[in-house]
Amino acid sequence: MYINIYCLKDNLERSHLSDMNAMKSFREILANAKNVLILTGSGVSAESGIPTFRGAGGFWRKYQAQNLATPEAFDANPSLVWEFYEYRRTVANEAKPNKAHEAIATFQDRSLKAGKNVTIVTQNIDELHQRAGAKNVIELHGSLFKTRCTVCHEVSANKNIPICPALEGKGSPDPKIMVSDIPKKDLPRCQKTNCKGLLRPHIVWFGENLNEDVLKQAFNAVENCDVCLVIGTSSIVYPAAMFAPQAANRGIPVAEFNLEMTPASRHFEYHFQGPCTVTVTEALEPSVHEPM
Ligand SMILES: NC(=O)c1ccc[n+]([C@@H]2O[C@H](COP(=O)([O-])OP(=O)(O)OC[C@H]3O[C@@H](n4cnc5c(N)ncnc54)[C@H](O)[C@@H]3O)[C@@H](O)[C@H]2O)c1
Ligand SMILES: [Zn+2]
Repeated sequence: MYINIYCLKDNLERSHLSDMNAMKSFREILANAKNVLILTGSGVSAESGIPTFRGAGGFWRKYQAQNLATPEAFDANPSLVWEFYEYRRTVANEAKPNKAHEAIATFQDRSLKAGKNVTIVTQNIDELHQRAGAKNVIELHGSLFKTRCTVCHEVSANKNIPICPALEGKGSPDPKIMVSDIPKKDLPRCQKTNCKGLLRPHIVWFGENLNEDVLKQAFNAVENCDVCLVIGTSSIVYPAAMFAPQAANRGIPVAEFNLEMTPASRHFEYHFQGPCTVTVTEALEPSVHEPM
C-alpha cells in the first residue's frame, strides 16, 4: 500500500519530504518530548468495524445518526433513541481494539515508565482505547457504556447487552422497520430505590455542552503538551476541533493522521495520510535505540 506523507511547513509552503524523512523527523520530536497529547476521533475505530458518522455508516434505519443523537430526538421518542443506542452498544461490544489503539496504549505505558506523560483525549464513546489498555482516557463525549438518570442525574457504568429485557433483539438497523414503541416504563430505569427515573445514554449529544471538568482537563492537556498527535478526526465537531490548532498556534509540532486532508490540516506541521493502523503504528513503535 502506498501512503502519502507530507510535511506541511505553513499555510503557503508545503514541502514534500520523502515518506521516511517526515516520519523520521516526527519520531525524533516524539522521542525528545516530555508531555505528549494524543487526540482521537472516530477514524481510529473505523478499522475495528465501528463506522464514522461522516461515511456511509452514518445512517441507522432511515435516520441520519446525527439526528438521533440529540436531546430533542430522545424527548420525542426515547424508545427509538434507546434502540439506536442498543445497536451501537452491540457493535462497540463486538468490536476489538485495532493496531492503532494497541500502539497508543503500549506507547503510553512505555512513556510512563520512562517518566514521560501521555494524555489521551478522545471524542469516541466506544471505550476501545481503554480495552486496549490505555489509562486515564479523557472522554470528551461520554461513553456508550455509561448511563445517566434523567431525574437524579446519577452516572453509572453499564455494559449489559441487552441493557434491559425490553431491548432484547431490538435495534436492528433495517430501514424497513418504521415503528419503535417500547413503553417508557420498560426502557432502562434508574436502579436507586426511590428514583426509578428514565435513564439516558451518558453521551454529549449534538446541541449539548461538554462537561466542564472534562473540558478543563482537555484544555490543560492542550496547554501543557510539547507535541500533539491528532488521529482519525474530521476536525469539524467543536470544541474538540480547536484543540490541535490551538496547540499548533503555540508553536507545538502537531501531526495529523487521517485518510484525507481535513479543514485543520493547514495548521499542522505534519500530515501522515493513510489508515491509522499503519501510520500510527509506525510513528509510535519503539526505535531500535530506545531502552525497552
Ligand atoms: N467510535 C465512536 O465512538 C464514534 C463513532 C461515530 C461517531 N462518533 C461521534 O461522532 C462525532 C464525529 O466526530 P469525529 O471527528 O470523531 O468523526 P468524523 O466521522 O467526523 O470523522 C472521522 C475522520 O476519520 C478519518 N478516518 C476514517 N477512517 C480512518 C482510518 N482508518 N485511519 C485514519 N483516519 C480515518 C476520516 O477521514 C475523517 O476525517 C464525534 O463527536 C464522536 O463522538 C463516535
Ligand atoms: Zn435516578
